Amino acid sequence: MSQTLNFPVAVPKLFRDAVYLRELTEDDIPTWFERASDPESAVLAGDPIPESVEIGFQWLQRHRERFHQQAGIRWAIVPKGATQSVGTIGLTISSKEERFAELGIVIGRAYWGKGIGTCAAHLVIDYAFNILGLAEIHAEVLQRNLASRRLLEKVGFHLLRTIPGDPQADTNSEDFLLYVLPGQNRTDTQ
Ligand SMILES: CC(C)(COP(=O)(O)OP(=O)(O)OC[C@H]1O[C@@H](n2cnc3c(N)ncnc32)[C@H](O)[C@@H]1OP(=O)(O)O)[C@@H](O)C(=O)NCCC(=O)NCCS
Repeated sequence: MSQTLNFPVAVPKLFRDAVYLRELTEDDIPTWFERASDPESAVLAGDPIPESVEIGFQWLQRHRERFHQQAGIRWAIVPKGATQSVGTIGLTISSKEERFAELGIVIGRAYWGKGIGTCAAHLVIDYAFNILGLAEIHAEVLQRNLASRRLLEKVGFHLLRTIPGDPQADTNSEDFLLYVLPGQNRTDTQ
């Protein structure tokens, strides 16, 4: 594997079993708004609750710009047989030189616990190591986010350390866990 990232010219389509990953489009904005307006999901994902569906155009534009700056790739998650996306998954490049990225994922509440997140994460991890050329993927989760922790452990991440929250702070008052998945010698537990 080369020592530089093989960043794509277009968001690649990825398929596996029950899930299809494709680039985000305007069609994804209504489901994004529904998901992003769910208070529990927003806190777990670390995202602000949007004031209106129109903010979705800024959300989409931000992801498109990040992609064109080679700073990240975000996919819409579409379950097999569905036409609408049910969530998104992405990689944010945290160091181009070291080839590190951070994994982020969010799925609409109605689709939790059906294996969609695990399947999407496997697809992105395979792509990240075998084609994009990442050396390491990181993920930060709230300590109480048991579903996300379980998902990360299932796809091979291991816990690196706890990032203590500041009890005095309005935000970031809770403990986070930092997980890591190295590209070499990783245990694929699928
Ligand atoms: C985290 C999230 C993406 C998981 O997606 P998902 O499609 O529901 O995940 P899966 O169905 O693949 O399940 C993953 C594992 O977590 C387990 N799980 C689900 N909810 C759980 C809970 N509340 N407590 C403990 N484990 C849980 C599942 O049982 C499964 O493990 P198993 O196969 O051993 O049974 C989804 O719950 C979500 O979008 N949450 C809100 C946003 C968020 O937390 N994003 C991550 C921020 S870092």
